[in-house]
Amino acid sequence: MHLYLDTAIVEEVREIAAWGVLSGCTTNPSLILASGRKFEDVISEIIELVKGPVSAEVTAMDTAGMISQGKELRKISNHVVVKLPTTPQGLAACRALTDEGHPVNMTLCFSMNQALLMARAGATYISPFLGRVDDISWDGMQLIKDIRMMLDTHDLKSQIIAASIRHPMHVHQAALAGAHIGTMPVKTFQMLIKHPLTDAGLEKFNSDWEKAKKNQ
Ligand code: G3P
Repeated sequence: MHLYLDTAIVEEVREIAAWGVLSGCTTNPSLILASGRKFEDVISEIIELVKGPVSAEVTAMDTAGMISQGKELRKISNHVVVKLPTTPQGLAACRALTDEGHPVNMTLCFSMNQALLMARAGATYISPFLGRVDDISWDGMQLIKDIRMMLDTHDLKSQIIAASIRHPMHVHQAALAGAHIGTMPVKTFQMLIKHPLTDAGLEKFNSDWEKAKKNQ
């Protein structure tokens, strides 16, 4: 599973990109609002750091508007992935943009049938929001498993971005469930590396090395 950051804060991207494990980034209007910055500036700066796919969401609700905004966003960089909503208009825009070679991430996916429609519309990426499914006491991880089985069974090429990830167990389980990509907030990313036995083991090795140095 590839690892993406779900953020519009450039400093967070800079921090995790330095680890050498970051494959891409996703943004949405709520994250852009939280950044307090101009949309296009944020997307360009993130792309500079990630040098990989960065999803940028359209705000139009009609097909023509989505296509035109999507094409404008793609002028920023080839790394821009046009993020479209799960509506009939979004599906039509997805078909039109993918037919012209533009990558599309279909967002706000909450069911297998929505994912099937997205895959049939040629979506490069499908984003099931697993945390929000869990929020309503359904099983977000089962949704990821079902979508993966459906894509494999019917030889559909869309990739699953497990989105609305909230904690490290979501990452662990999404990787096993067959998500191609997991996108998560920086806080979750930082937690992935932490383990108390790693910290305790390192402390012991360091203190033993201090003692061993006397014999070197
Ligand atoms: O990737 C989608 C994400 O931004 C939504 O996360 O935690 O608001 O459901 P959340």
